Amino acid sequence: MTKSANQMWGGRFAAGPDAIMEAINASISFDQRMARQDIEGSRAHAAMLAATGIITDKDSEAIREGLLTVLSEIEAGEFAFSTALEDIHMNVEARLKDLIGEPAGRLHTGRSRNDQVALDFRMWVRDQLDALDGALIALIHALLGQAEAGADWVMPGFTHLQTAQPVTWGHHMMAYVEMLGRDLSRVRDARNRMNESPLGAAALAGTSFPIDREMTAKALGFDRPAANSLDAVADRDFALEFLGAASICAMHLSRLSEELVIWSSAQFRFVKLSDRFSTGSSIMPQKKNPDAAELIRAKIGRIFGANVALMTVMKGLALTYSKDMQEDKEQVFDAADNLMLALAAMEGMVRDLEAQQDNLRSAAASGFSTATDLADWLVRVLGMPFREAHHITGALVAAAETKGVDLPELELAEMQAVCGEITQDVYTVLTVEASVASRTSYGGTAPSQVRKQIARWREELA
Ligand code: ARG
Repeated sequence: MTKSANQMWGGRFAAGPDAIMEAINASISFDQRMARQDIEGSRAHAAMLAATGIITDKDSEAIREGLLTVLSEIEAGEFAFSTALEDIHMNVEARLKDLIGEPAGRLHTGRSRNDQVALDFRMWVRDQLDALDGALIALIHALLGQAEAGADWVMPGFTHLQTAQPVTWGHHMMAYVEMLGRDLSRVRDARNRMNESPLGAAALAGTSFPIDREMTAKALGFDRPAANSLDAVADRDFALEFLGAASICAMHLSRLSEELVIWSSAQFRFVKLSDRFSTGSSIMPQKKNPDAAELIRAKIGRIFGANVALMTVMKGLALTYSKDMQEDKEQVFDAADNLMLALAAMEGMVRDLEAQQDNLRSAAASGFSTATDLADWLVRVLGMPFREAHHITGALVAAAETKGVDLPELELAEMQAVCGEITQDVYTVLTVEASVASRTSYGGTAPSQVRKQIARWREELA
């Protein structure tokens, strides 16, 4: 079947595309998500074309008005997107022509779809970075709330998922605040770096029309126009930075999710997840499953997958634009949607979370968690070299294990059988409360330190 040639470039073509060609070539099914950015960009471009005398004020006005109509049609869901018109840029322009006639054909002066798509996508990603910024702050506040409530609740700190030393619940929550705080700063860095306007780079070389790129850059909220037209249409590093920051953030969420899954199990009972963020089992009536946490734990798969996919699309592409780059969007859209969903779910879960203070404490007090405190006491009070103290403490742990008790339950005589110089004073360091209270070094787990960090973060985010 021979279709009529394309209305945008039909001049050189005798026949239209094969149906398969149309199917592989079209991006309208997904790039319609950039309609608002596309129209905003075109309105700024049209205003600039009139301000520089390239088109008349009258045409510019007609274009700008017509574009608003197109936008309202799209937003109302009344717009008939056409695959034959390939992408959002040509769909919008064709509809504009229906609406206003001849002046529509002047909009594309001094511009190309190459700088247009680079602009639209950049603005879309910029909007996402801003949304991400807000979502991260909300989650950080939820964690700060947990940290504040349990600044001095004692829980086991783990290495290798084996009890290591007692820490505070607040300290553990604040570890995630630090991680998400760095995610936030990555988002802000990326936004700063990407905030240059590609509009006016045209196809790749710039244009002979006397355009004003400063004007469009400013109108669209950019810090400046991009300084090299080839780079402006060719790179997608801004999307990769978004995906990089998104991947790291998703990795952090995944670790917190894993902890929530473990902590909410019947074996741990460290936390109770709210019904609002759990599900039941259709067969086992006793079950309350941490599905939200599990799904967030898994989201890293598609988000990091998007990162790998786009990096792979972009690698090895000769400058400037190649159609490969149309494959840049869907994965970014998907990653953005899923990260936002994951952040919202995590925020809800953290807000509703009920830490089980008693269970945390008894878990902290088992597993010889204050052995390091004991060794430190031998160093501090008896002046022993740490290596020797480590050895003696090991022997004391073995004695406690044989007796089936924890370190504070060993009698003084039993301790003195291992090391004659030990005195009653040692017991002051063997409780988990004493252990965490003593860790007052900067960044340590002592409640006093944790409260300082909470205050610092609250101030930073205020
Ligand atoms: N739909 C295209 C994309 O997403 C727009 C740019 C097309 N440019 C071109 N020279 N064919 O990449």
